[in-house]
Amino acid sequence: MLKLENVSITFNANTVNERKALRNINLDVKDGDFITVIGSNGAGKSTLMNAISGAYPIDEGSIYLDGKNITSLKEHKRATRIGRLFQDPLRGTAPNMTIEENLGLAYSRGKRRSLMPGIRKKDIGFFREKLSELDLGLEDRMKTPVGLLSGGQRQALTLLMATIVTPKLLLLDEHTAALDPKTAEKVMELTERIVKKDNITTIMITHNINNALKYGNKTLVMSQGKIILEIEGEERKNMTVEKLMKLYSDNADDSMSDKMLL
Ligand SMILES: Nc1ncnc2c1ncn2[C@@H]1O[C@H](COP(=O)(O)OP(=O)(O)OP(=O)(O)O)[C@@H](O)[C@H]1O
Ligand SMILES: [Mg+2]
Repeated sequence: MLKLENVSITFNANTVNERKALRNINLDVKDGDFITVIGSNGAGKSTLMNAISGAYPIDEGSIYLDGKNITSLKEHKRATRIGRLFQDPLRGTAPNMTIEENLGLAYSRGKRRSLMPGIRKKDIGFFREKLSELDLGLEDRMKTPVGLLSGGQRQALTLLMATIVTPKLLLLDEHTAALDPKTAEKVMELTERIVKKDNITTIMITHNINNALKYGNKTLVMSQGKIILEIEGEERKNMTVEKLMKLYSDNADDSMSDKMLL
C-alpha cells in the first residue's frame, strides 16, 4: 500500500543548523494497517508524515503509494488520495464557511471542479447522515460557521472531511493532543470507528504511549530520524508502557522527552 525506501531529509544542509530529520527510512505499510508512531520531540515523526504527504521534498529515496512511485508527485495531487489531520483543530477547516460548505469542499476532493457546482441537494442528506454518526448533534447545525465550533467538534468534523471520500491513506499527527482528555478520548474512539468501518490504512503519531499500544496493529518508535523499533504481533500484544519505555532506553541514543512521558 505504502512503501518508503531509503528516505532521507536533511534541513539546512551544509550550514551550522544542519539537521538530519530522516535518515534512510524504510517502511512497508500494508493495506488496512493502522500504525501508531511514537518518539521524543524532534525525532522526525512529523517530517515522516510531511515526506509521505509531499509537503516536504525528500533528498534521497523513493515513496510508493498503491504501487505507484509518488516521489516527485506534488502535495495537492497526493491529497486526493491522502487524508491528513494535525494537532491544531484550526488547520483542517475553513472557519467562515458553514459545516455543510466545508463538507461540500471535502466531498468534491479529487472530482473535476466543473462537475461540482456547489453543494447538491442530495449531498445535504448524505452529509446529515454522516454528521449524525459523529454523535455530536452537528447534523442540526449544518448552517453554522465552523469557526463557532469547539476544538473537539472541529476535529471530529475534520476527521469526517478527511474520510468522506475514503482516502487510500490517513495521516494523523497528534490529532487529539490539543483537546481536553475526555474530548480527546471521544475523538480517538471516533477515529477508530471510522478507520475500521472503511478499512482505511492509517498512520497515527501520538505522544500517548497507552493509545499507541491500544489502537492499531503496529507501533513504530522513532529516535533521531530513524525508526528504532517496530512492534507488532505477539510482542505488541504483551507490550506494556513500562516495557516499551525500557526498550526505548535500551535502543535509543537519547532519552524520552517530557512530552512523551506525559
Ligand atoms: N521546516 C523545517 N525546517 C528546518 N528544520 C525542521 C523543519 N521541520 C522540522 N525540522 C527539524 O527536524 C527535526 C524533526 O522534526 P519533526 O517536526 O519531524 O519532529 P517530531 O518528531 O514531529 O517532534 P514533536 O514530537 O515535537 O512534534 C527537528 O530537529 C526539527 O527542528
Ligand atoms: Mg511533530
